Amino acid sequence: DEDDHQELSQDTKEFLTTLPKNKGWRTRHLYLFQGFWCQAKEIQAILSFQQHFRAQANDIIVASIPKTGTTWLKALTFSVVNRNLLSLGEKHPLLTSNPHDLVPFLEYNLYANNNIPAVSDSTSPRLMATHVPFQALPDSIRMESGNARVVYISRNPFDTFISIWHFMSKLRPEELGPFSFKEAFDTYCKGVIGYGPYWEHMLGYWKESLENPDKVLFLKYEEMKENITVHLKRLAEFLGCPFSAEEEKAGVIEEVAKLCSFENLKELDVNKNGKSIANFENKHLFRTAKVGGWRNHFTPSMVEQLSTLMEQKLAGSGLSF
Ligand code: A3P
Repeated sequence: DEDDHQELSQDTKEFLTTLPKNKGWRTRHLYLFQGFWCQAKEIQAILSFQQHFRAQANDIIVASIPKTGTTWLKALTFSVVNRNLLSLGEKHPLLTSNPHDLVPFLEYNLYANNNIPAVSDSTSPRLMATHVPFQALPDSIRMESGNARVVYISRNPFDTFISIWHFMSKLRPEELGPFSFKEAFDTYCKGVIGYGPYWEHMLGYWKESLENPDKVLFLKYEEMKENITVHLKRLAEFLGCPFSAEEEKAGVIEEVAKLCSFENLKELDVNKNGKSIANFENKHLFRTAKVGGWRNHFTPSMVEQLSTLMEQKLAGSGLSF
């Protein structure tokens, strides 16, 4: 288990020995930490994030579980908040930077590797992202009275599984040995994925979005694919910068949607050939972006198993896919 532990502090290493663990997808193990599954390195960063982060007025946090459309929501949020940059045309930052480099992760970038970032004194909103479940976010983000806003993207659990599966297949180090489709599915259904169980992750943000709609905006990938205009308007309103009638007339919403579209981002040089966070290749973040692609992969018994599980787990919440 020493493979990915070299950069960890002695405290973290000792702490890990106290946690339940399971076979991991991209690392040898995932650990059950504060009720969710994490890689060792993530745990160290999350502890630091929880301890040191102080939300500021206007902070915007993009939240998700991996493979549900994080890259897309980062691009959209960045473009909406900084829409003065649209006037740059071909010099727009999204055309030369991957969305993950414009909206850093709290646990992979800002608080990773024992780093404690300096507090920026910029007056414009700070844009950050996280995969951490709502319950485990620092109090200063969760506080009702605080001004931090959280935008969450969810995706149907079937396509999410397939997306995770493909992602893992490309990035799993060979020395970890095989991880079959069947084993991956059973592991997913046990809730053992990064930051999972997925249903608990969704429900945490979902419940907060109902109780505190000014704090959390809950978005669904499929609905956004269906009608991005409606959801871009919701996003801008939620973030306190609604599109004006003039902007609507001038086609600004369509411009943002097009800039952030899968078709556009996937073809950019930075996303075809570049590397970003954690030194992995950006191209792996763009696969098919289809809704319902799972139908080509699931057997009838898998459909039955995951549908039943989700019905049970989401029962009474008002959330469904
Ligand atoms: P698929 O694997 O189903 O194609 P994340 O960004 O959270 O890692 O999610 C990755 C999923 O979002 C992938 O799904 C990827 O293709 C899709 N995706 C990436 N960029 C997108 C965009 N601009 N619009 C819609 N979907 C996008």
